[in-house]
Amino acid sequence: MSTPISLPPDLDRLLFQELGAFHQPRNEVFGLVAADGDEIRRYNGTYLPRTWAESYQVFSQLLRIPGVRAVLASRQAIQVLDVGSGSGGQLLGLLDALQANGLGSIPVNVDLIEGNPHAIETMKALWSRYPRGNRGTIRVAHTRLPETRAEFIPSLDRTIRAFRREPYDLVLSFKFLIEVYGIIGKDASSGLYNDFAKVLGTHLAPKGLLLLLDLTAKPHPNDGTWMGTTLPRETNLLSDTDLSVLLPHPCRRYAASCNTSCYQEVHYPVVVSSIGSSTEAVVWRALAHAPYIDQLASGLPSRLCHQVSFGQYPATCKRTRCSLPAPSAFEV
Ligand SMILES: C[S@@+](CC[C@H](N)C(=O)[O-])C[C@H]1O[C@@H](n2cnc3c(N)ncnc32)[C@H](O)[C@@H]1O
Repeated sequence: MSTPISLPPDLDRLLFQELGAFHQPRNEVFGLVAADGDEIRRYNGTYLPRTWAESYQVFSQLLRIPGVRAVLASRQAIQVLDVGSGSGGQLLGLLDALQANGLGSIPVNVDLIEGNPHAIETMKALWSRYPRGNRGTIRVAHTRLPETRAEFIPSLDRTIRAFRREPYDLVLSFKFLIEVYGIIGKDASSGLYNDFAKVLGTHLAPKGLLLLLDLTAKPHPNDGTWMGTTLPRETNLLSDTDLSVLLPHPCRRYAASCNTSCYQEVHYPVVVSSIGSSTEAVVWRALAHAPYIDQLASGLPSRLCHQVSFGQYPATCKRTRCSLPAPSAFEV
């Protein structure tokens, strides 16, 4: 378990006092693409703070890599693509991580793909009122991508091309594909994370980062598929592309030997004023083009932390397990 961090008070106030968010956990978080305004306000009060914390913590970890920070620092504007952005907690976490690492003055331009109009409305309200970060342009593809195995990937690719902004410095997708897996259906969704990562990789700058994060829940209530195993299995080793894993560290080093048996989860608890501590189990991978990874890896220290709360993975990964210091801002 990672050290709890506090939701920034201004975000807390924006959500709960100005945008009508409320806290009401339930077991399921699926079907959001068709959710009404009340359901989205429930999402904003229950899950968005967790998304903010996950994004803030993971980006802080990425920005600790000197080469990653240097590349982003050299940009006149940081171009971001966010797929299944919902109400945008991960984008605010990114803004705060950039700010905390001295990159808050660089404009962040965002293209996002999202099917729910109420989520888009919240995202735009948060983006326009957020007090930190240099919020550049935001362009929205309000579209529900077809949830069939044959059409989903080609339609995603066309939607990204229509923005005509690529290549992107950062491509994100947080807790999106689990919902699509659930709708497409158990057998048909096999291999979808693999295809998803590959197509997003084609829109990534040579020194860009692709961050995929998902819940370790089941997309299909009635079977044993867990995203905690599915995401690692389908993204640790990608054929026919030069994309591979930058973080977590052991996956970069040992993906070839541990790929089939990997399961892991990590918690990033967040303290919300009216609720207290809130958390969920997630799994994530940061991918990049191999030449960039080689360049970054040569500058990394040999003793590296692998932050996991729980998991089943080979001894090679266990040996690198240790706790990371919490990022300095927003500590409880
Ligand atoms: C669980 S939410 C995650 C939202 C946000 N990324 C986060 O981490 O808090 C999944 C999002 O994906 C969107 N979504 C699901 N299926 C979609 C589809 N077929 N096309 C477009 N958006 C979709 C939903 O509307 C929802 O906002």
